[in-house]
This record gives sequence, C-alpha cells and structure tokens, in this order.
Amino acid sequence: MTFKILRYKPGHIDPPRFQEFNIEVDPNTSVLDALEKIRLEQDKTLMYRHSCHHSSCGTCACKINGTERLTCITKIQELEGHTITLTPLEGFEPIGDLVVDTTRFYEDLSENWHYLKRAENVKSAVLPAGVHHFTRFENCIECGACVSACPVTDKNASFLGPAVLSALHCELEKSPEKEKDLVALAAGNRGEHLCERALNCSRVCPTGVYPARHIADLRRLIEKKNLQSG
Ligand code: SF4
Ligand code: FES
Repeated sequence: MTFKILRYKPGHIDPPRFQEFNIEVDPNTSVLDALEKIRLEQDKTLMYRHSCHHSSCGTCACKINGTERLTCITKIQELEGHTITLTPLEGFEPIGDLVVDTTRFYEDLSENWHYLKRAENVKSAVLPAGVHHFTRFENCIECGACVSACPVTDKNASFLGPAVLSALHCELEKSPEKEKDLVALAAGNRGEHLCERALNCSRVCPTGVYPARHIADLRRLIEKKNLQSG
C-alpha cells in the first residue's frame, strides 16, 4: 500500500507537503498500525497521536482519504484503492504532520459542567507539562472529528462548535437549574445560530453523539424561550 501523508515541521517542512511511503500491510490491521510500521521502519520523525488503540481516548483522529476518522479502528480493508491519504484535522492549528493543537477546544468545555469529572483511576498520574486536568463526558471521546468536519469552525473560530454545544445540551438535561446560564451561552454570539445545519458532525462522529441533534434541540429550546419572552 502507498500512504500519502501530509508532512509539516515548522521551519523544516514548511509549507506542508505530501510524502509517500510504500509498505506491506495486513489488510485486517488498522491505519494506526500502518503509521506505527512506517515510523518504526522508515521515518522516526513521523508525528501522529494515539493512546488507547481502541476508540476510547479520541487522540488519533485525522482525515483518512478526506474524511474524519479514528486511525485506530479504521481497517485498511475498509478503504478503497491502493493509496491511503492522511491529513490532519481541520479547524485546529497544526503542530506537526498529523498532530494539531486542541487546546482551545478543551478550554471551551467547562470544568463546572456536571458530566466533566476527574477520572478516579488516574489519581496518581503525572500530568504532562501544560495540562492541568483530565476530563471526560458521556459518549464523546473529545476526538475533534466533528469540529474538523464542520464547515463553520474553519471560517469562524469563535463558534463553540458541535462537541461543546452537545456537551452544553447534556449539561442542560442533567442540571435544569442552570438553564438560564446555559441557554444564554447557547444563544450567545458564539452559539447555536452560527450552525449552518450541514450535519457533517453527526456523520463523522465515531461514538454516536450525533451533535447535530443536540444543536437542533438547543435551537428549539431557544426559539421556545424567545416566543415565551416575546
Ligand atoms: S461529538 Fe463525536 S466527533 Fe465530536 S469530539 Fe465528541 S466523539 Fe468526537
Ligand atoms: S488511539 Fe485512542 S481513540 Fe484511537
């Protein structure tokens, strides 16, 4: 198989350019396995993220043949042709090769929301430099695929985006007493009204969060509130 990977190293491979790697792969293995093989056998400078290898941590998302997917659960045999093209998620600042900076995405997920909780089994884990806490919510694995697939996030960086709005909606269901503040945030200048209803978020989400449904529910709620107050 040929893997055509967008390479980027600030100051070295800059602007980004594609590089091809030819490797023998078992079609039953994953794209992440192939990346590991390329890095081990051909180019140890290749940058990509991964951790769990089983669609749980959300770190390995990137664009495979133009669509946002998790490399760890995408099998080679699911992909057509003999060339697999890999590019980083869009809507985030690139760091290098397939790695992007998701800092702002995490900043928008409020620590005060109900379902965000510190993982109990990593109490003694040493936090990497610059990371102050670990968080987790519902089915969302915070992979960023929906943010990348959304046609709005790229042109309007202020949009809260599908994952954050989904999280906000979940919080609203669990903490109705916070309705006033949460609805104000969803109805604010970074919120729901910026959504163009492309539905790409729900199409690419690997864990069935269906962000577009959450956004539609928020829209109905905001309209209802406006009607009530009008
Ligand atoms: S809503 Fe789905 S696509 Fe978006 S960050 Fe969460 S798991 Fe990923
Ligand atoms: S490596 Fe954790 S989701 Fe893919």
